Amino acid sequence: MLFWCCCVSLAVADDIQVNDQNLYSRKGADTCLKCHDEDYKYPIFPIFYNKHGNRNDPRSPMAQLQCESCHGPGRAHATEPKVGFDRAPIISFGRNSPASKDKQNGQCLQCHNDHGRQNWAGSAHERQDMLCVDCHKLHERHDPVLQITQQSEFCYGCHKKQRAEFARTSVHPVRYEKMECTQCHNPHGAVTDAMLKTNTKNDTCYRCHAEKRGPYLWTHAPVAENCGLCHEHHGSIHTPLLKKRVPLLCQECHTSTAHARNPYDGSAVSSQSAFVLAKGCLNCHSQVHGSNHPSGVKLMR
Ligand code: HEC
Ligand code: HEC
Ligand code: HEC
Ligand code: HEC
Ligand code: HEC
Ligand code: HEC
Ligand code: HEC
Ligand code: HEC
Ligand code: HEC
Ligand code: HEC
Repeated sequence: MLFWCCCVSLAVADDIQVNDQNLYSRKGADTCLKCHDEDYKYPIFPIFYNKHGNRNDPRSPMAQLQCESCHGPGRAHATEPKVGFDRAPIISFGRNSPASKDKQNGQCLQCHNDHGRQNWAGSAHERQDMLCVDCHKLHERHDPVLQITQQSEFCYGCHKKQRAEFARTSVHPVRYEKMECTQCHNPHGAVTDAMLKTNTKNDTCYRCHAEKRGPYLWTHAPVAENCGLCHEHHGSIHTPLLKKRVPLLCQECHTSTAHARNPYDGSAVSSQSAFVLAKGCLNCHSQVHGSNHPSGVKLMR
């Protein structure tokens, strides 16, 4: 690879305050790349094409302590050990690393303890002792977990039930690569039970289905309360994403309404019954989320 020609120098910026100068290598990445070059077994260089390698961003590692922003002080490691001695250790990442979970994640959180991850501590994933690098690959040009085409496979690795849900007939189109888990979830934790990006489930739905928020002249009470009373969130065998099919769905709450005989009371189960034919209750009550028509009080127009 020609990118790393000798006229480019990545000397550490002068204004960086290093606590203990003696622990860090003097020339930053230049020192490391003497040994970790193109021929090294592990490909280092793609990092220079992603955000961590962007020297023009003063917040990025490459504008600060460079490799050592993440891997920690490495001067001793970069020095050839005396014969018979091991090379001094340096922080490495992943499940095989001797560094503890807190040490590894701490290296990332020194820069990433911001808004998006303020709920990481105590989150479902943190409690499972997950590492940032269980999901993130930093020496690649494009971190796979950030790609809509690849993300769900990461999650399905552990969330097998959800894989099955998204394979149903009526789904949020994750398997068509038109949506990803993180449009609704924050994998770093959130204040809700299911780590939703918004404070309530309905707020999550309104982000994309804004028209269902209303306000309606005639509201159907359960809609504003919880979309989940009628809809599945991932996938369902009843289109569109319904928990049950109509009229059973409606009958969960409207068992003996004034007009409607129970559609399954025997007398109604005939080919004539408007209650069970085709869209059932929806044949007449078509505006199931709410109506803005002056005479839409029964959600019929
Ligand atoms: C003089 C050569 C040399 C220099 C300079 C050097 N390394 Fe290494 N480094 C190695 C070798 C050799 C290994 C492999 C050790 C092994 O396989 O047991 C290694 C391993 C590593 C590992 C894997 C962790 C481990 O303990 O196995 C990391 C991470 C690493 N180096 C980062 C750095 C960083 C960051 C710098 C710059 C501060 C740096 N290295 C400078 C030779 C060097
Ligand atoms: C933003 C943090 C970050 C920066 C900056 C960074 N690395 Fe890494 N490095 C990692 C992580 C995380 C891994 C573990 C594998 C992965 O995620 O890709 C890793 C893996 C490695 C490995 C392989 C270690 C092993 O276990 O075999 C080496 C060697 C290495 N980095 C050297 C470097 C060098 C040299 C630089 C500077 C040019 C550098 N790293 C910059 C985070 C970083
Ligand atoms: C020295 C500070 C620093 C450290 C240490 C650091 N990062 Fe970053 N990271 C950044 C900056 C700056 C960005 C770019 C943010 C932006 O553009 O808004 C970034 C971006 C990212 C992104 C988004 C990449 C993208 O393409 O959008 C991920 C994921 C990430 N970091 C993960 C990590 C992980 C995991 C670690 C620990 C192994 C880590 N970072 C260590 C500063 C750091
Ligand atoms: C369960 C997998 C997973 C774990 C564990 C994880 N992340 Fe992420 N991370 C993601 C996904 C997926 C995205 C993309 C989020 C999106 O598109 O909104 C992301 C996005 C990011 C971003 C860039 C976008 C942003 O929110 O600023 C950064 C930075 C980041 N993660 C850092 C971290 C750090 C630091 C840790 C460890 C404390 C961590 N991640 C742990 C999956 C994970
Ligand atoms: C290494 C395994 C693993 C991976 C990979 C993983 N998770 Fe998880 N996740 C868990 C475990 C374990 C829990 C906590 C147990 C539970 O509540 O089901 C959890 C909990 C959750 C929860 C909250 C469940 C609740 O009831 O509070 C959500 C949402 C979630 N994960 C989404 C994701 C997403 C999105 C991804 C991919 C970016 C992902 N997970 C990747 C293991 C994983
Ligand atoms: C359209 C938004 C949306 C998308 C996309 C989405 N989820 Fe969810 N997810 C939800 C909602 C809403 C809940 C349940 C909240 C509640 O009722 O407490 C949930 C719950 C969960 C739970 C907790 C257990 C459960 O099933 O109730 C896990 C784990 C989970 N989702 C993982 C994933 C994974 C993995 C993906 C991507 C493959 C994903 N989700 C995509 C909205 C979504
Ligand atoms: C990030 C955007 C997004 C969020 C958030 C979201 N949806 Fe969706 N929803 C979609 C997309 C995209 C489709 C697929 C539309 C299509 O197939 O034409 C869809 C489809 C649906 C459908 C089926 C529509 C049909 O015609 O088949 C229902 C029902 C639905 N969503 C309900 C919900 C509920 C309930 C929530 C909250 C838990 C929610 N959505 C959150 C984007 C979103
Ligand atoms: C009382 C049950 C019920 C509740 C609560 C409910 N829905 Fe529906 N929803 C339905 C039914 C039934 C259909 C099918 C309508 C049809 O086929 O004409 C539907 C269809 C949809 C559709 C696809 C067709 C369309 O009208 O765009 C979307 C999207 C949708 N609902 C989103 C939501 C959202 C978002 C919420 C919460 C704010 C919600 N629903 C609450 C019963 C409900
Ligand atoms: C989770 C419970 C629940 C479900 C499921 C449900 N509803 Fe309702 N519905 C209500 C409540 C509560 C009201 C408000 C009753 C009131 O104001 O007296 C209501 C009101 C109505 C009204 C207006 C009644 C009036 O007097 O103005 C109609 C029509 C209606 N629902 C039809 C349906 C249909 C059709 C379905 C199935 C698609 C359905 N409902 C599913 C709870 C539900
Ligand atoms: C053939 C058309 C039709 C079908 C099908 C239908 N309804 Fe109705 N529904 C009406 C009419 C008309 C009214 C208004 C009656 C009135 O004002 O006295 C009504 C009123 C209601 C009311 C309000 C009750 C009240 O006391 O005013 C509810 C709740 C309701 N329907 C639920 C349902 C449910 C649930 C189903 C499916 C099992 C259903 N409807 C199927 C025509 C229909």
